[in-house]
Amino acid sequence: MSVGATPAAGDGKPLVRVQNLVKYFPLRGGILQRTVAEVKAVDDVTFDVRAGEVFGLVGESGCGKTTTGRLLLRLIEPTSGTVEFDGRDLTKMKSDELKKTRSDMQIVFQDPYASLNPRLPIGEIIGEGLSNMGVRDRHQREERVAAILDKVGLRRYYINRYPHEFSGGQRQRIGLARALVLEPKFVVADEPVSALDVSIQSQVLNLMADLKDELQLTYLFISHNLSVVEHISDRVGVMYLGKLVEMSSTEDLFKNPKHPYTKFLLSAIPKPDPRQHRQRLILSGDVPSPINPPTGCRFHTRCPIAQFPICSEQQPAFELKSTGHWAACHFAEQTKELEKESGFVAPAIEAVDEEAAAIGQAERSAASEPEDVLESELDEEARRRSSEPLGGE
Ligand SMILES: Nc1ncnc2c1ncn2[C@@H]1O[C@H](COP(=O)(O)OP(=O)(O)OP(=O)(O)O)[C@@H](O)[C@H]1O
Ligand code: SF4
Ligand SMILES: [Mg+2]
Repeated sequence: MSVGATPAAGDGKPLVRVQNLVKYFPLRGGILQRTVAEVKAVDDVTFDVRAGEVFGLVGESGCGKTTTGRLLLRLIEPTSGTVEFDGRDLTKMKSDELKKTRSDMQIVFQDPYASLNPRLPIGEIIGEGLSNMGVRDRHQREERVAAILDKVGLRRYYINRYPHEFSGGQRQRIGLARALVLEPKFVVADEPVSALDVSIQSQVLNLMADLKDELQLTYLFISHNLSVVEHISDRVGVMYLGKLVEMSSTEDLFKNPKHPYTKFLLSAIPKPDPRQHRQRLILSGDVPSPINPPTGCRFHTRCPIAQFPICSEQQPAFELKSTGHWAACHFAEQTKELEKESGFVAPAIEAVDEEAAAIGQAERSAASEPEDVLESELDEEARRRSSEPLGGE
């Protein structure tokens, strides 16, 4: 079972309901700055995030994961479609109601270096949201900041230190504290561990999973790395070029993938044991432009089992293929036969992905090492950084 999975997880009511969500970014040109084209970043996406679950959103760079996350928090306006939060349509909320609802919805960014103001001590960074939400009493704010520092595993006396005095893992803990101090219900975590050293990644993931249970949170967990998503998610949605192409429980997605693109992503995950090799599937061609995506199935230009003309002419519906398992492929039920016919499977790869192997190793060490050893390692990294000149990174 994944770290974030609990028996109840995934059985909850939808906390966030996304229906036919579309975001086209206009590209302007000429003297009059007219719209000359549109980037179809998110194109008719529908899914729920259930209360208490971790919903992983995965896909290659540029497929629309961050845009989807930002739309869910209404940090950007959708072109069309709706996002309901706790039964209320976020897309129609006026600014007062939106401001109140925002404290229930927070975001953790990928880059803990860029997302913290270097000129403010972390107590102020974390407490800023409390001031914005009207917590005027300084002592009350400090007490809440200190309490959340405890929860994310940072010492209270760090409160007056500046971001450059912390290690990468500690800074992401600060990012988590900033998001969680407002006691949100829903957190969008956008590649929260991608910028961290692999040895620190599993510590932050484990912390996020623990906080989720303790504070009864719901996560949208965005990553390009399916093995990281597997580690924490209860359900997974796979995106390709602005569209959801598959969605199911994490277990079912890994055991029984239905979409050829998901199979490709899965084949790229190395086995933790270096003596085992996974057969790696090779995709031909580059990712097409989201300005002018392919007709029919958007994956047809790279799909090794595409059948013509149906795949290039008819867009496959995103539909239920088995219990709780959705996919958008005309041939989801016949992929095995078509794969055999097309010789889809390439020779096994010999190399082991160092990143995933190191995550596995770090997980094993994290499980066996006491917390204060980890903390002292973090402190060591922080000391090293604090002796570096500002802006030297
Ligand atoms: N403000 C914007 N204006 C124009 N195009 C944008 C804007 N923001 C995103 N895009 C485009 O929308 C598409 C989706 O971008 P998005 O950042 O959501 O992808 P992503 O899946 O998060 O990628 P990554 O894994 O690299 O973070 C990309 O083609 C991107 O260039
Ligand atoms: S619909 Fe056709 S092109 Fe698209 S994934 Fe299925 S087989 Fe491949
Ligand atoms: Mg992104």
